[in-house]
Parts: sequence; structure tokens; C-alpha cells
Amino acid sequence: MAEPHLPVFQPHIGVDTIKAVVDAFDVGWLGMGATTQAFEKQIEAYLGCEPRRVLATNTGTSALHLALAVAGVGPGDEVITPSFNFVADHMAIRACGAEPVLCDIRDDDLGADPASVASLIGPKTKAIIPLHMAGIPCRIDEIYALAREHRLRVIEDATHAFGTRVGGKAIGAGGDLTCFSFDPVKVITSIDGGAVVVRGQEELAVAQQIRILGIDKDTVERYKNTRAWEYDVLRDGQRYHLTNINASIGVSQMKRVDEFISSRQRTCRRYSAAFRGLPGVTLPATDFTDVSPFIYFLRVPAARRLPFIEALRARNIATGIHFLPSHKFTVAQKWRQSAMPVTERVCEEIVTLPLHSNMPDQLADRVIEAVTELLR
Ligand SMILES: Cc1ncc(COP(=O)(O)O)c(C=O)c1O
Repeated sequence: MAEPHLPVFQPHIGVDTIKAVVDAFDVGWLGMGATTQAFEKQIEAYLGCEPRRVLATNTGTSALHLALAVAGVGPGDEVITPSFNFVADHMAIRACGAEPVLCDIRDDDLGADPASVASLIGPKTKAIIPLHMAGIPCRIDEIYALAREHRLRVIEDATHAFGTRVGGKAIGAGGDLTCFSFDPVKVITSIDGGAVVVRGQEELAVAQQIRILGIDKDTVERYKNTRAWEYDVLRDGQRYHLTNINASIGVSQMKRVDEFISSRQRTCRRYSAAFRGLPGVTLPATDFTDVSPFIYFLRVPAARRLPFIEALRARNIATGIHFLPSHKFTVAQKWRQSAMPVTERVCEEIVTLPLHSNMPDQLADRVIEAVTELLR
């Protein structure tokens, strides 16, 4: 008998989360409210990011757009980010009327290559968006050194890296602006949702206004589960706030975040131990200490990737590809970009394997058995 379908992603929604949603409906205030604020406070405490402040958003993409707006990115500006990235980053830059400029990545951590970033910095450059791919930290100190030298803002795309620590500190606890995603497949989810970490109270006030249509008092009122009937509109804004219902899911997931991360680390370590030494295979360059793994990926020789994916599919094991090279997209043809030797190679080799929070060993064993048999 065929084994059941094994998906790449499997959100971990327990009875605790379901109860949290029912309780949130019982409160009767469905939109942004007190639970949204509770979620923000919980994230601040978890990251240990004081005096930085956390602002919850309705997606990770809106978190990126909001962060760019707070950084003052606008028409005529350029923002450097890897081609090896989800198109959400590129579209967030475009939403500001700015131009994405695409850099290459390093072969080890698959994050922005500081040399490639440096080669692209020009008079219009306003910010850099480095990505911590799969939860693995990129060379962030070198990116900050470049930013200091050229007076640029840095928006860390930590949508894959909620809970990853660098030098003993959570990503988001230091640095400039940081964005997270809590979409359905991330380590914790609020179904859709995200967050921006800003540098302090002043930026928080601006970000809160941009988050809700530029309105001055709405956030303060809604955090009391009430509405402001008289208000001013201070600036251009979006409708990017997170609802109480989504936040209630986030709050319940946050209570289990350490359990989710350590279970994922354990599965990743079992994968890496089993796959080490397979011919032509490159593993993630980490032992997963301090890494909050969003996905587990392998790199296989380009010519073997499609047959490998199909052979896994025949065994009902799903795979993914993170990412397609953005510089090849039609829309990207007019964007400035560096040479992409590493991006092009990695994009032909990379395969994402199933990784879930609290993934039963017997499911991971199915993957291990199939991969080792196919690639040995
Ligand atoms: C690298 C990267 N940045 C940004 C996003 C956008 O996050 P969201 O799906 O919450 O909008 C994603 C989503 O997977 C992503 O992979």
C-alpha cells in the first residue's frame, strides 16, 4: 500500500490554538485590539529587544513595506536585496515607488554577498534588505559595516528566522529594522501576519500611523477594544494591521515557540547526519545551534534535481524549491543587478524537504530512507 502524502509544510495547530480562537471570538472585538497589543508585547519580551518596539502587521510583506516606509524609502531611491529571495521583498520596494537592485549571494549561508552589495551601492541607494535564508544568519555584521560607511538603512528580512540568535542575541534584538512573517507555513503562525521591529517609541508612532491609513489615534483606541470617532490623518498610510483573531492564534503559538524550534532543530540535525557524505550533495552550512529552521534544504547536482524530485513524488514525498532566481523574472529585466554566478548555480541545485514542528521521527525516517537511497 502506498505511504500517505508527506507535505513540505504542516502548520502545527493544536487544541490550544483552536481554544484561543474560540475565546477571541467570545470577546466580540474581532478587528485590531487588545490581543494585537498583547501579541506585540509577547514578541518584544521573547526577543528581548528593548528599547526597540514591535508592531504586528497582517503579513510579512506588509511588514517589509511598512519598514521601508519608516526608513523613508520613496520614488527615485534604490534598495539592494538578493535576487535569491522571495518576490515579496522586491514588491515591497516597488510599493514605495523605489527600484530593487539585485545582488548575488554567498555559497555558504546563501545570504547577501557583501562584496556584491558593495559593488552595487550608488548615489540612489537608500537601504539594504539582507535575508536570513531558511533561518540561517547571513553575514549581517559586514552588511551593517557597509551601511554605516554609506549611511544606508538596513531592513533585515527575518521572515524565515523568528527565534534565530546571533552572538547570543535574537535577530531583531539589535540592528536597524527587522521584519518577521507569521504566514501559514512559518515556525509560528497567526494564519497570515507579520511584525516589524522599530528602533524606539518615535519610529513606533510613525509606523502605527502608516499601519492604519495615516490616522493619529486609532491604534491607542483600538488597543482598548474601542474606536476613535474623531481623528486626524497625519500622513499617507495603508491598512496593514493585525486583527485580534489572528493575534490570538499568534499568542497561543508563541507559548510553544521554543518547543517548535527545538523539535525542528532536532529533525534538521537528523537529516544532516543521515545525508552527510552523499556524493555531490551540499548540506546547509550549520549545525543548527541558535538557528530557528524554517525549511530544510539540500543542494544536489543540477542534472539530478528533477529526477530526484520526481522520484520523491512517486513515494508521496513532496518537495519545494526556494527560490526561483528573481533576476530572471520578466518584471526584473529593468532592475539594476550584479553578475549572479552563485544565485544561478544554487537555484538549479536547491530542493526543500519536508520539515514540520514536532515532526514524528517515522516521517523524517521516510524522507531519510528515500533521499539516501536515491542519492547514494
Ligand atoms: C524571504 C521572504 N520574505 C518575505 C516573505 C513574505 O512574508 P508573508 O508571506 O508573510 O507576506 C516571505 C514569505 O514566505 C519570504 O519567504
